[in-house]
Amino acid sequence: MEAHIRSRRPPSSTSPFSSSSSPYSSQSPVSCAEFTVTDLENMPYTQAVLKEILRFHPVVFHNYRQAGRDDVIPLSKPIKTKSGKVIGEIPIAKGTRVVLAIAAYNRDPDVWGEDSHTFNPDRWLTPRSKRGSSVGVYSNLLTFSGGLRSCLGWRFALYEMQAFLVELVSNFEFAITEDIKKLRREPCIVMVPVLEGNVEKGAQLPLKISLARRD
Ligand code: HEM
Repeated sequence: MEAHIRSRRPPSSTSPFSSSSSPYSSQSPVSCAEFTVTDLENMPYTQAVLKEILRFHPVVFHNYRQAGRDDVIPLSKPIKTKSGKVIGEIPIAKGTRVVLAIAAYNRDPDVWGEDSHTFNPDRWLTPRSKRGSSVGVYSNLLTFSGGLRSCLGWRFALYEMQAFLVELVSNFEFAITEDIKKLRREPCIVMVPVLEGNVEKGAQLPLKISLARRD
C-alpha cells in the first residue's frame, strides 16, 4: 500500500522537512503537496484497505434500539427456538431494547463469505455476487449503521480517514514493536487498542515510526 500511495503523491518542491533549519534536512526530502479528492478517489487499493479495516474493526461495535410499538423483526433465515419451534420472525413488544451486533454482521459468513474472519482487502477489488439484503449505508458495512438513523458523517469520515492515512503513509514508515504482542481490543464505548496488563493507561498502539525513504 505504501508504494501505491507514494507513487500518487503530487510533485512539490516545498517541504517542511527539507528546509535547512529543519531537523530533518539531512533526511530525504518529503513532499507536502496536497492530495485532491480526485487523487484519493483514484486509489482503489487504499480504499479497499480502508473498507476492510472498517469491516474488520468497527469502532462502534454495538448499536441500541428500543421498540416504540409492538413489532416483529423478520429473520434472513429461520431459526429453531429452545422449545424446538422453527420461526422466521421475532415478536418485539413495545419498549423492548434491542442490541444490534455491528461487529457480528460485519463478519457474518452468510454476508461476506467463508473467509469473513480473514482480513482481506482484495475482497473489495473482485466482483462478488450479492448475498442477502444490504443493510449498511455504505458498502453494506454496518459500521455506519443503516436506515433512518444511520451516520450522517460517513462520507466525511471516509475522506478524513483516507486523507489522514495517505499523509501518514507517504511521509513515514511504520513498523511493529515487541509490545504489539500484548495488543488487544477493549470496548470503551467505542473499541480501542490497549496493551495487556496496561489497560489503565488507556488506548495504546506501540509502533516504531521513521521518516519515509524517498527513492
Ligand atoms: C469512522 C467514523 C465514524 C463511525 C464509525 C460512525 C458511526 C456512526 C454510527 C454507528 C451511528 C449510529 C448511532 C446510533 O444509531 O445510535 C452514527 C450516527 C451519527 N454520526 Fe457517525 N460515525 C463516524 C463519523 C462521523 C462523523 C465524522 C460525523 C460528522 C461529521 C458523524 C456524524 C454522525 C451523526 C450526526 C449521527 C446521528 C445520526 C442520527 O441519529 O440521525 N459521524 N455514526
